[in-house]
Amino acid sequence: MRIGIAADHGGFELKNRLAEELRRANYEVADFGAYAFVPGDDYPDFVVPLAEAVARGDVGRGIALCGSGIGAGIAANKICGVRAGAVHDHFTARQGVEDDAMNVICIGGRTVGPSVAWDLVQTFLSAQFSGAERHQRRVAKVAALEHAPAAVH
Ligand code: RB5
Repeated sequence: MRIGIAADHGGFELKNRLAEELRRANYEVADFGAYAFVPGDDYPDFVVPLAEAVARGDVGRGIALCGSGIGAGIAANKICGVRAGAVHDHFTARQGVEDDAMNVICIGGRTVGPSVAWDLVQTFLSAQFSGAERHQRRVAKVAALEHAPAAVH
């Protein structure tokens, strides 16, 4: 699977660690930046191109990093077809995919250590959407919001 990864300054170091682990595990990695540590850079500049690549299917799944994982998740979820969530625990890394079809995992470089982050990423990547009717129904209700009338936006 081709995996996309992106980070601002808050997730920059973690991005490099995770990209290294992913390549070692034989994943093809598409790096959407940042390509250098720039303390004032902005997470949407990296996370949005990653999210667009996930939505287009250019990458199978995405890993979005910032200081907390929150800004990255908010930005990624603005892109239609993206289901992103900030994850800190093993259970959620798996269940977010199985129940909610999460396709972008968001992790905080300032809140999660590299070993736990790598466990979260491996768990996320090996999980599959269950396809259970109730979960398909819920995911479809969320997807319908992407085409809702402007009044609700
Ligand atoms: C940047 O300082 C920080 O706000 C950002 O990386 C992220 O944590 C936002 O959610």
